[in-house]
Amino acid sequence: MTNDVDEAILLADRIVPLTPGPNATFGPSFDVKIARPRERAAMNSDADFIHLRASITEYLMDVGLSAKPETARVETLPNVVPISIKSTSKPLPAAYREKAQSPIESGYVEFSNVIKIYPTPKGPLTVVDGFDLKMKKGEFVSIIGHSGCGKSTVLSMAAGLNPINAGGVILDGREISGAGPDRAVVFQAPSLMPWLSARENVALGVDRVYPKASPAERRDVVEYYLERVGLGDAMNRSAADMSNGMRQRVGIARAFALSPKLLLLDEPFGMLDSLTRWELQEVLMEVWSRTKVTAICVTHDVDEAILLADRVVMMSNGPNARIGNIMEVDLPRPRSRKALLDHPDYYAYREELLEFLEVYEGGASPAEAQLAAIREKRDQRIDRQNITKRLAAE
Ligand SMILES: Nc1ncnc2c1ncn2[C@@H]1O[C@H](COP(=O)(O)OP(=O)(O)OP(=O)(O)O)[C@@H](O)[C@H]1O
Ligand SMILES: [Mg+2]
Repeated sequence: MTNDVDEAILLADRIVPLTPGPNATFGPSFDVKIARPRERAAMNSDADFIHLRASITEYLMDVGLSAKPETARVETLPNVVPISIKSTSKPLPAAYREKAQSPIESGYVEFSNVIKIYPTPKGPLTVVDGFDLKMKKGEFVSIIGHSGCGKSTVLSMAAGLNPINAGGVILDGREISGAGPDRAVVFQAPSLMPWLSARENVALGVDRVYPKASPAERRDVVEYYLERVGLGDAMNRSAADMSNGMRQRVGIARAFALSPKLLLLDEPFGMLDSLTRWELQEVLMEVWSRTKVTAICVTHDVDEAILLADRVVMMSNGPNARIGNIMEVDLPRPRSRKALLDHPDYYAYREELLEFLEVYEGGASPAEAQLAAIREKRDQRIDRQNITKRLAAE
């Protein structure tokens, strides 16, 4: 019994999916004829694996995600302005401001040599040691890395919820100090007021962020996002009466409704079963494609990392973690899981991420030769993609 298609293919001779209950039944059986020993990363260049994985995933999606009618009332957003401009961030020194006069392109978000030291019983421990990253406005970055490397630490520093020991984070030309309405955070479990309805939970933030909007305009903002995440018919249901998946939809609606400059997601779907996770990834993509908010998402799931991101940032192991590698994801948008399953480059991206995770497995420090081998494969992939592009352009 497993929830994970990769794990099933890695281990099994035959895979029998279970249709969703009530009255669950066994689905068709898929024979796994891939030669053993099987390896999680290497399988991604095996045509049989690619075909089998696509068939099983598509089957699960088809039976699980049976079309639900959606009746959207608010189709367009009212033209109201959030107060994220009046943030709690410190103004930058005049010299920096002058230098940064040009429209902020590549450094809309800028982590400069960010260091985090936690006190421990054995003395101070440098968990994150020089995290450097520049993001463009509207970019989506996924952060991936082994457990405990410091992903949540980096995210919480950007959120202003965790003090930075050295270095700094700049957002839209201002240094972050403390939490502010220009950033929204989505955690694994959304912190909703259980006795309030979905509508009221989203409205709490919206009322704060759009002080000049009329009550009707604010209501439209709330309803627009609740409809986008598929809760159009459950807006008045209290958070306490919702499933985890529904609560997380409210969390996503609330985060987008705040119209943040930077959206921060920390394993937002980590608690959900894989079908719900797939569904919410698509919801997130759909809402994101409408707003193009600059976003960082921490995840353990390589498919999620690729599906969402313009770039996947892979962190090395802690302590003293930093960025080990950055992978640009040159896949067409809008993306959907189904379209990616059929994309010729998708499995090369997966393999690259899985190989990277493998060389850092169990706290290892990879040898330069291992990293060089991954980079060489990447260069081959990029060459291949460039040739394909050139041929398509001719
Ligand atoms: N408040 C704290 N005090 C001391 N150590 C901490 C504190 N918070 C986190 N750590 C340690 O810092 C390291 C990084 O933690 P963090 O939660 O950022 O990792 P992570 O990459 O998000 O892990 P996971 O994938 O398990 O969520 C871990 O070793 C953790 O034990
Ligand atoms: Mg974490």
